[in-house]
Amino acid sequence: SLDPYHVSEEFGFILPAPLTELPPYYQPWMDIAQHVTELIYSHMLRSHILKMPLLNTQLLESHRELRLAHLALSVMTMGYVWQEGEDDTVKMLPRNLAIPYCEVSQRLGLPPILTHADAVLANWRKRDPQGLFDMENLELLVTLPGGDSVRGFFMVTLLVELAAVPAIKSIPLVINGVQCGDAETVTRALEEFSQAIQGMTDALKLMHVYVKPEVFYGIMRIYLSGWKDNSSMPAGLVYEGVQAEPMEYSGGSAAQSSLLHCFDELLGVKHEAKSGAFLTRMRNYMPPSHKRLIQDISLQPSLRGFVQQQACEPLTAAFQLCVTKLLALRSYHINVVSRFITVPAARARQLRNQGNISQEETVSRAPTALEEKGTGGSGIMSFLKTGVISEHNAVE
Ligand code: ALA
Repeated sequence: SLDPYHVSEEFGFILPAPLTELPPYYQPWMDIAQHVTELIYSHMLRSHILKMPLLNTQLLESHRELRLAHLALSVMTMGYVWQEGEDDTVKMLPRNLAIPYCEVSQRLGLPPILTHADAVLANWRKRDPQGLFDMENLELLVTLPGGDSVRGFFMVTLLVELAAVPAIKSIPLVINGVQCGDAETVTRALEEFSQAIQGMTDALKLMHVYVKPEVFYGIMRIYLSGWKDNSSMPAGLVYEGVQAEPMEYSGGSAAQSSLLHCFDELLGVKHEAKSGAFLTRMRNYMPPSHKRLIQDISLQPSLRGFVQQQACEPLTAAFQLCVTKLLALRSYHINVVSRFITVPAARARQLRNQGNISQEETVSRAPTALEEKGTGGSGIMSFLKTGVISEHNAVE
């Protein structure tokens, strides 16, 4: 069963029914968190945060309260650091923010930076509670600069998580089937699994409908980026009142979603050393119970070995289709990255080389430190293109 991992039958890794309000004592946080975008545009966010009271986190009790608090403190932090762009960053996060943020982070086992678990998994509500879980009926709880494209980016990612739920549910069936030597059950579960991966790719296609590349590239990305492997924050960030030495944390990344980690472990997909190390590090940016699920899947007897040993045609075909669909999802993701990062980055470089100092185009506003990098700090295209060792992943 998936319950001990806080994975739900209905929502997978998505936090079911996130709270939209904290206890009234925390209103000073929510007042700022819900207006981060306007406060960034008016250059007032830093001064509002400096004036914020230092609140006691002991009044936060439930997991959902802690998740909303982490989300709110995260968007405030991203806004505080990046309010003036890449050339005027800060060395220190003030104690009124840093102390409660690190306390809440510690209780959740999450790092004190905006993660996928915040911005996507815990950042939604239905407009009409009776209505569907779809683009029309979903809203963000908090946002960052970039308007509708921010909603589009986080919500489409959320829909990919939802599309993956049947695949997650099939994992225990596959594992039990292997344990009982039941090839037929495993075959059926793998068929379900590959269909769900196709569903994830179809959901990802909506990125092109709901997100504008120049807004994503020129405005949004900096607020998702962190203070590790980032040349505009080379020293990291001091969390005042927590620790005198600066700390380094990676920005948000799809590698922080537990989905592909689970799938890779189940199917025995291997990564090259460098990509593998980045992926492993990103597991520390997930809720600990989700990370534990990935580890427990990796400890199971090899599915790949079972498929080879059974030498049963439908089983081999079902397994191979899963591997193929997973590679296709990754290659579609590269396609998305080309449109949203590579192409706008080329345009920005072209404008710079032409000495176009009017900088009227949105892409010109993008930080140069992120031209070749993912917001998580990976060398983006080399990470995505050379990540999977494909020779290894075929079953003869
Ligand atoms: N990781 C994505 C990027 O690099 C969000 O922009």
